[in-house]
Amino acid sequence: MRCVIFDLDGTLTKSDEGILNCIDYAVEKVGLPLPDKTDRAKFVGPPLIWSFKTYCGMDDETAERALWAYRERYMRIGLYENRVYPGIRRLLRMLKKRGDWVAIATGKPTEPSRRIMAHFGLSRYFDRIVGADDVLHPDKEDLIRAALPEACDEAVMVGDRSFDVLGGKAAGIRTIGIGYGFGTEEELRGVGCDAYAADVEGLIALLCPRQQPPRGAFISMEGPDGSGKSTQAALLAETLARWGFEVVRSREPGGSPVGEEIRKVLLSPESGEMAPETEALLFAASRSEHVRKVIRPAVAAGRVLLCDRFLDSSVAYQGGGRGLGVARVQRINAEAVEGSLPDMTVYLDIDHRDAMARRVKVDVPDRMEREDEAFHARVEAAYHQLIREDPARFVVVDANRDAETIGEETGRRVIERLAALEEEADRA
Ligand code: TYD
Repeated sequence: MRCVIFDLDGTLTKSDEGILNCIDYAVEKVGLPLPDKTDRAKFVGPPLIWSFKTYCGMDDETAERALWAYRERYMRIGLYENRVYPGIRRLLRMLKKRGDWVAIATGKPTEPSRRIMAHFGLSRYFDRIVGADDVLHPDKEDLIRAALPEACDEAVMVGDRSFDVLGGKAAGIRTIGIGYGFGTEEELRGVGCDAYAADVEGLIALLCPRQQPPRGAFISMEGPDGSGKSTQAALLAETLARWGFEVVRSREPGGSPVGEEIRKVLLSPESGEMAPETEALLFAASRSEHVRKVIRPAVAAGRVLLCDRFLDSSVAYQGGGRGLGVARVQRINAEAVEGSLPDMTVYLDIDHRDAMARRVKVDVPDRMEREDEAFHARVEAAYHQLIREDPARFVVVDANRDAETIGEETGRRVIERLAALEEEADRA
């Protein structure tokens, strides 16, 4: 069995936001002036007590008081002012697939380390999480030794600072220095790391050469015109990215060069009236290109493809709004999607009249926005019919609230489902 031991801050998560806010808080609490910007950045990685003494000139007693103040804010707030580096989630899934022993050896105490991993839904990828509970004398070598199982064929320590490399060497294992954290290539090579990866992609190439990435996911977002979809798609993409999901945003009609050309024809008022069948076929043509050139490759590469509108829009607008009927629209689209359907669909639920009232007033409304209220009522009714027929796929969110509240609920529910999807895929 191979063992891969990770440092936490600066290697798995980009934790500087929370750490730096807590350092400011701690230094103010002991009544000292804040360290200047360049010194502040150096705090991330080395033992805190050492940094307080070195960069703020604290004596032992003051540094210890500062440390307790730091921990008090950190456990309340700082823990969550954090983000998983893009690609780390994918790497952890790949390591587990290989059957590696995966552990964390961090200079941070064990409890907050566990909480961070649980918060991001990553706990199940670790066989052991070892933190420095003797915070006054954290010793990386001991932590690394404690993170290793009784027996293993080979072991490697991955970290972003010289402390990680030196600790790994002292523990007698291989070391990989990574350049996307808080240390520099010079620092890591200077202490003799066995290998160096500038980014997560490079780390994946070193640890899992030629291994297929796990499947990502396909999420669509739907709702009537004016439901606030664009705002919510942006908020959701940001939340997912913070959790370490590698989000690719796209939209329909469009999403590919050919699709964007078709979009112009479909939405431009200059196109004027067109037969509903022609309209449905054009949306389907745009979709066909999108599915093949963008959606499938992204999901196969382990990304989360977040698409603003997909097949349900055709069912609702052309099937319901234009009156072509659900079955006909689905037939027209069968070749275009060829089984590539969303794993989940966020539906922003709002009465079409409220949505219409909220719509940003534009000088030249597009072909769809020009339609009357009865058209939009049929669109909304068709959406509700879709949700009734396939409730398991939909995350229906009440969109008649402020954007932040909607975003918070959407993020939480989508992440819950994504985690379950990943777990299922990892078991297969
Ligand atoms: P867009 O400017 O993207 O609007 P929104 O921000 O509301 O998504 O315009 C897309 C319009 O096209 C929108 O009114 C819905 C409509 N549409 C269909 O009629 N059928 C479809 O298959 C798709 C994808 C969109």
